[in-house]
Amino acid sequence: MNIKPLIVANWKMNPATLGEAKILFGRVKDTGAIICPPHVYLAVLGANGAQDCFWENPPTGGGAYTGEISPVMLKNLGVEYVIIGHSERRKCLKETNEMIEKKLKAALGAGLKPILCIDKISQLPADLDKGVIIVYEPLFAIGTGKACSPEKAKKMRDFIKHTAVLYGGSVNSQNAKDYICQAGFQGLLVGGASLNPKEFIDIVKNTCYC
Ligand code: PGA
Repeated sequence: MNIKPLIVANWKMNPATLGEAKILFGRVKDTGAIICPPHVYLAVLGANGAQDCFWENPPTGGGAYTGEISPVMLKNLGVEYVIIGHSERRKCLKETNEMIEKKLKAALGAGLKPILCIDKISQLPADLDKGVIIVYEPLFAIGTGKACSPEKAKKMRDFIKHTAVLYGGSVNSQNAKDYICQAGFQGLLVGGASLNPKEFIDIVKNTCYC
């Protein structure tokens, strides 16, 4: 039986205005994809995905964490999925495996489905929960237009013994299907191409029936 692939849109720090965010969301919201806009747009759009969360959940966490958003806040807003440990956060914000594992636990505790980004096996928690969705994103492929070959990606997919593993890194409407049908991934994390509604809709369409 073919299972519908999970397609995740990671808008990153885009777009610059709420007006543009509303237009983009309006174009892609019926695709069945998980749309992860910046936090500031979440409530207005009613999107089902977020790009990050903090590792404490008030009241146990106390709430004194300036600038942070708790998993419970996201859940209460109707968010279902949260990206955790994206390579850009590991690099720019120095997020460590330890911080990321705390975030995973907090997200699961709040009833969110975490989407954990990794580029190497050592970034997988030892006690990986079944409910975590993994994304394999090779660093050289992120935002570069140089996607990983499906053959190479398949090796990593086969190596990760987990039910739900997505591929991310320079996915477009031309290469999307290969990661699902050839390499055996359960879905895709799409960055740059998710900001172009036509391209994103084509990605969803092209990966529907493998
Ligand atoms: P990209 O980004 O599709 O622009 O390569 C993927 C990601 O960073 O999640």
